[in-house]
Amino acid sequence: MTTDTFIIQGLAGQKKLKGTVRINGAKNAALKAMAAAILCDSPVLLENIPHNDDVETLAEILRKLGASVVWKDHQLEIDPRNIHSTSIDAELAQKMRASVVLTGPLLARFGKVTFPAPGGCVIGARPIDQFIAGYKKMGATVDEQENQQVISAAQLQGTEIFFDFQTVGGTETLMMAATLAEGTTVLKNCAMEPEIANVAEWLNKCGADIQGAGTTTIVIKGTAKRLLKATTYVTVPDRIEAGSFLLLGALCASDLVISDCRPDHMESVISLLKSSGVPIRTTKDQVIIEGNTLPIGSFKSFNIRTHEYPGFPTDIQSPLVTFLTQATGESVVLETIYEGRFKFTEELIKMGANITMMNPREILIKGPTPLSQLPEGDILSAHDIRAGFAVVMAALTGKGSFTVNNVHLIDRGYEKLEEKLRAIGAQIERKVA
Ligand code: EPZ
Repeated sequence: MTTDTFIIQGLAGQKKLKGTVRINGAKNAALKAMAAAILCDSPVLLENIPHNDDVETLAEILRKLGASVVWKDHQLEIDPRNIHSTSIDAELAQKMRASVVLTGPLLARFGKVTFPAPGGCVIGARPIDQFIAGYKKMGATVDEQENQQVISAAQLQGTEIFFDFQTVGGTETLMMAATLAEGTTVLKNCAMEPEIANVAEWLNKCGADIQGAGTTTIVIKGTAKRLLKATTYVTVPDRIEAGSFLLLGALCASDLVISDCRPDHMESVISLLKSSGVPIRTTKDQVIIEGNTLPIGSFKSFNIRTHEYPGFPTDIQSPLVTFLTQATGESVVLETIYEGRFKFTEELIKMGANITMMNPREILIKGPTPLSQLPEGDILSAHDIRAGFAVVMAALTGKGSFTVNNVHLIDRGYEKLEEKLRAIGAQIERKVA
């Protein structure tokens, strides 16, 4: 597969970027709201939707089911009334794990759903056992066939479900399924990510009765299949995009305003960077780097483990690793959510980073080390959405000219990254394949 590449001119450690980056709505909330539109009785308007490839893929899957999905700038109008299929397209589902969240609303509304093994980033096994166990507890039967699973339940029943561990997609999917169940469902040991509360608050405006979203216990009183009344949904700002730009700004910008975001959803990242020496201040909806003029290498190293929200997000782990290659001292990064999210460090090592893999989930970084241009003909690779950002960030920090391939993976989660970077002074071009 040939894909677009980025050609990037590094700043050689100089903090020359400046300006304002506007943050989009969160991909990981928008995708769930798109799925939840299936629970509604009429067309829904979803606002502040990021225009990235994962959203496009889910829109295409919904169209194949029979829904109408129409873009208007950053709004999506989804009409679920003509859905005629409950079989999720296998080829499209392979492209993104989030397709599995469709199973909840489809099963709850239509009594049946067929789906293939979900795909997504190459960051670990990512099973769906918690979804399946939950559906079974709600009274569904699960028929595991060679390449697909068929789940059926004429009417899901409220019950108590304890997740073996916190799962974002599992919490959201069973929460959505429970809205149309008969009786009360209590979900325990839920994930607490702000995107879950964002979608739950909207569903409540549509007539659902969901209490406790954003905490570890969620109680849902089901409507026994009465559909929800469509109201407008507004996507919460993307804390992962904002955190990514914050880390990039720390290494590459003297002054950077990250606007239209929710600093209160980014406390773990902001607090760590402040202690490391990055000059950051926040307002209600902005994170501002100001007077970041000390030379690279002046930030202090630190150890970190990724954690469910409100801990340090696994989705910002890779940009953080790039940041730590430029901090002074040793840092240990422990990845607790995924077993395969350090492969991208090979790219940073090629550029000169001093990173040792201690075990598949733990690395040791010794910094600062300059990041340098690769030998003629060598290129850098984006391994997944966030690792792609981390490599772009490393290239901008480094000295020389860099080519990054597999940009389609970055496009899955960041809307027009190169345009946002150019607007703050970066030299980055997209070479279309
Ligand atoms: C969401 O994935 C995000 N994706 C991911 O974002 C994010 O990395 C992840 O949450 C953790 O924060 C979307 O929201 C679309 P999980 P999700 O269920 O819901 C295991 C990005 O870059 N697990 O919380 O799939 C699973 O394998 C990405 O935007 C099971 O074992 O994450 C993983 O190791 C990529 N069985 C862990 O739990 C299950 O049934 C957490 O997964 C479910 C999950």
